[in-house]
Amino acid sequence: MRFCHAGHKKAQKPIVPLKAMRYTRQAQLSARLSTYSLSENLNACASRGSGAVPSNEGWFSHKTLALSPAEVRVQKGKETIARTIYYDQIAKKWHRLTGYHGGPFKRYVLNDRILQQIPGIAGNAILELGAGNGYFVPMLLRRFSGQLPSRLVITDQSSEQLDIAQSNFFIDGAEYEILDVSDPFPFPDQSFHLILASMLFNELITRNLEQALKECSRVLAKGGQLIAAVPHPDFVHSLSKKGALTDFGHGLFAMPGAGGLRLPVSRRPLVTYLKAMQDSGFIVETEDLYPDEKTLNEKSGLTISARKPLGLLFKCSLPE
Ligand SMILES: C[S@@+](CC[C@H](N)C(=O)[O-])C[C@H]1O[C@@H](n2cnc3c(N)ncnc32)[C@H](O)[C@@H]1O
Repeated sequence: MRFCHAGHKKAQKPIVPLKAMRYTRQAQLSARLSTYSLSENLNACASRGSGAVPSNEGWFSHKTLALSPAEVRVQKGKETIARTIYYDQIAKKWHRLTGYHGGPFKRYVLNDRILQQIPGIAGNAILELGAGNGYFVPMLLRRFSGQLPSRLVITDQSSEQLDIAQSNFFIDGAEYEILDVSDPFPFPDQSFHLILASMLFNELITRNLEQALKECSRVLAKGGQLIAAVPHPDFVHSLSKKGALTDFGHGLFAMPGAGGLRLPVSRRPLVTYLKAMQDSGFIVETEDLYPDEKTLNEKSGLTISARKPLGLLFKCSLPE
């Protein structure tokens, strides 16, 4: 049994055949069964660096995508539901932009602030929600090189994103699962010590946020923590005032992101985030995150100010 981050190498043998497990009942069941215990090799593997991002794009026009997020009908249990495939469509471009650190704000500010909230990972079960291209967990393993989690589950609702996470940031022994956080999580109560959700909750309508938080609260072990980050609600509000948000559909807006992408965002104020978290039983601490000098230099396309917070960090725990 291994637990090994293979850096940028193409995965030889995916742990879960992602293409085969799209949104079927069978897929959910097999996801539940795909439990791997993790053991040695952490040191050597986690300390490996990352390589270059792929250049093979196959892009879509972001304008078309941003203004009319595509949907597909998918089977979910006995129902057929609509699912947005926006992130499937932009997955390659997202990976090119996100790369091995995220964009400038993540690279210079957010990644480190998230890592600083985590006291350690030894013996912990870790769940990442909305993992995107999967760059963060290898960073976590490198930061805690020498510590061995008991379980590592990397999830996203987009199969294309998960494919990229597996082929570019493959961690041997980790579980890769398609999970839409507005659905029940296929995990037992109190089964994770750490849940990560970076730039995910802002992409959910409030009803789905509430559902996701209830599930986070259910699967989080006592003494564990949920760490989440969102674009700061004041920043989103300022974009809205400037007329920089367009309609994304589904009750969401589209905000300008790196590389001309427009990303879905809710215009939810801080109090609504806090209420949803508290209603799910969480004790919440927040931290405003400001852009540093390097972020300001590199994000020249987006008018941001060093005096205004760009991101918001939530640190959520359950009462003892
Ligand atoms: C802005 S990206 C953030 C990705 C990564 N966490 C990061 O910080 O780079 C948002 C991710 O959330 C995923 N996502 C959006 N809605 C979701 C949902 N309902 N359930 C699970 N993942 C979702 C998207 O597919 C996308 O990969």
